[in-house]
Amino acid sequence: MRVGFIGAGNIATIVMELIKRENLDCEVTSVFDSDFQTAERFRRRFNEDIVVCRGIDSFLEDVVFVVEAASLSAVREYGVRVLEAGRSLVVMSTGALCDWLLFQRMLKVAEENQVKIYIPSGGIGGVDGLRAACLGNVERVMLVTTKTPESLGSGVKEKTVLYEGPVKEGISRFPQNVNVAATLGLAAGFDKTVLRVVADPDIENNMHEIIVSGDFGEMRVSNVNKPSSHNPKTSYLAALSVVALLKRVLGVAEVGT
Ligand SMILES: NC(=O)c1ccc[n+]([C@@H]2O[C@H](COP(=O)([O-])OP(=O)(O)OC[C@H]3O[C@@H](n4cnc5c(N)ncnc54)[C@H](O)[C@@H]3O)[C@@H](O)[C@H]2O)c1
Repeated sequence: MRVGFIGAGNIATIVMELIKRENLDCEVTSVFDSDFQTAERFRRRFNEDIVVCRGIDSFLEDVVFVVEAASLSAVREYGVRVLEAGRSLVVMSTGALCDWLLFQRMLKVAEENQVKIYIPSGGIGGVDGLRAACLGNVERVMLVTTKTPESLGSGVKEKTVLYEGPVKEGISRFPQNVNVAATLGLAAGFDKTVLRVVADPDIENNMHEIIVSGDFGEMRVSNVNKPSSHNPKTSYLAALSVVALLKRVLGVAEVGT
């Protein structure tokens, strides 16, 4: 499978390292980054015949599977074009899919072109159980995100709930939390999902707790995320989740829903 990255930063680098380490049956053929030097560094680091593309059209020529690991704007700019070109797309900047019109358009184009949109679990575990639970009656889906006050733009000196309410409104008030909250909203439905944002001066690593209750019982998943080596804003788990997805796509057996 010929893979290309939009965005050659932190996530792309970790994914590439793991593709090689795990000896995955895929070949990274092309990268496209709005910062050409970053893409060049990526190519040199892996010392391979990866083509560094200056535009999306040349990038799409030689790939069948595109990993977006760039930004919300990259999804807005290129999401539809990737799918129109008949390439499947992994979206890491899931916050862009809060735009209902954009997401519906992408779904339609993917269907017309018989390709898929993949949304990895990113920085959270528990999405598989949540998806299963949501097929039954679910009373409550809550994401409790706890970060340092500085990273939430707050100056509070003790543990404080800064927001509790609908996930979409929470995303617009705390864009630092956009992707995890959006992934959960996409899995459970934005109308069902409540976001609580907590500032805690005493925590070291970001925490995301997912609480779901319904006819199936109750599920609580606590994620304490370590940052990734090349970008402290991105959890290491988020990059690993892309590789786990690639293994699932390429594999003959799948564990988990
Ligand atoms: N889904 C999740 O749970 C999750 C978790 C962590 C990060 N993310 C998101 O994944 C994305 C990548 O994260 P990262 O840590 O690799 O970031 P990074 O900043 O290390 O790398 C991103 C690269 O993309 C490039 N880029 C940005 N906009 C672009 C555009 N419009 N066109 C082409 N290139 C563009 C940048 O120049 C940069 O080199 C970010 O949007 C981040 O918010 C998602």
